[in-house]
Amino acid sequence: MTDTTAIQLTGVTKTFGTTTVVQPLDLRIRDNEFFSILGPSGCGKTTLMRMITGFETPTAGRIELAGQSVEKLPTRKRDLNMLFQSYALFPHLSVRDNIGFELKVRGRKKFPRPDESIAEALALVRMEKFAGRKPNELSGGQRQRVALARAIVSRPSVVLLDEPLGALDQQLRKEMQTELKRMQREVGITFVYVTHDQEEALTMSDRIAVMSDGRVLQVDTPRAIYDEPANRFVAGFIGNCNLLDAVYHSTPAGASVEVAGLGPVPVNPVPDAGAGQAVSLAIRPERVSLSADGPDIRVEAGTERVGAVSARLLDAVFLGDEWRYRIRTDGGAELKATRSSGEPDDGLSTLAPGSPVWASWAVADARVLSS
Ligand SMILES: Nc1ncnc2c1ncn2[C@@H]1O[C@H](COP(=O)(O)OP(=O)(O)OP(=O)(O)O)[C@@H](O)[C@H]1O
Ligand SMILES: [Mg+2]
Repeated sequence: MTDTTAIQLTGVTKTFGTTTVVQPLDLRIRDNEFFSILGPSGCGKTTLMRMITGFETPTAGRIELAGQSVEKLPTRKRDLNMLFQSYALFPHLSVRDNIGFELKVRGRKKFPRPDESIAEALALVRMEKFAGRKPNELSGGQRQRVALARAIVSRPSVVLLDEPLGALDQQLRKEMQTELKRMQREVGITFVYVTHDQEEALTMSDRIAVMSDGRVLQVDTPRAIYDEPANRFVAGFIGNCNLLDAVYHSTPAGASVEVAGLGPVPVNPVPDAGAGQAVSLAIRPERVSLSADGPDIRVEAGTERVGAVSARLLDAVFLGDEWRYRIRTDGGAELKATRSSGEPDDGLSTLAPGSPVWASWAVADARVLSS
């Protein structure tokens, strides 16, 4: 991936009537990046995509592709293509002709050897054998591949994909995710990928923009978004998280938060939180370890641990790759904890609900979110 800019949005806003569905937004997407836009239904993802493609005009702001302002350019003159959830293939045309049609629309002169371009696109989506078939002779996943071949056959710099796998079943979705990622690497096209599936965004993206209510809340790598969520919404939307209302305290001896049902919990100091401020405490369930036989007083080198929160087991659920536990602390707070089923379980999984357990975590894993 290079650091040149594929798409630059500056102050882009969209208002329908009196409702602003995209708040003033700045975003830079790099060349050859797999960039995902992730957010719940109605948060403005499609509207944002439609402004980039030119189907929708921004109410305010500037959109640049490869450094060129495109406000005045119609969609077909923009160096991009798109793939939507409902991809319409022509039913009367073969796979080959469906893909070739795209080249005709874009102008014969630009593609002097259309057959070669089509063959390359078919090879990329591994559909060479199906070139002569009609869409109704293909499975859903195969049709999706044809649509993808059509979106890339003209080798645009940018492809925008709006929930392209939404119609596929779970297994096919997983396969296509891997395929899409492979293709994107092979062709070196910038992908802007819209999804409301956080797992999909985490596994596929170089970077993710998390949107809520017309705003981008955080733009970062999957790892950073997961480990260092910017606020409570992001922490709760990406992955599983224990999110607890808390009040922040800081003394020369160190920082802590007061949580109902947990008491004071030591945390690393947070520069932008003030004493007495209402905050959220976020702890990932896989960072909470449980012990059935007494407080966990292991102190690992360099990591300070919260050693012994006394609790009772509510339930233990086996999910194949992991165990998922819910506990209630003696003070009444509910916490989730997970443990990989490959790890030794210290008798936890055979405990009856109501049994005493002790929870512990590293201080660094208890994150304070100030908004
Ligand atoms: N042409 C329009 N006129 C008025 N309101 C619109 C129009 N298009 C979209 N909206 C509204 O803008 C908001 C954002 O819609 P958008 O389609 O961008 O959401 P989304 O994030 O793509 O959601 P989903 O995940 O359900 O596809 C919604 O509240 C929607 O009702
Ligand atoms: Mg949408």
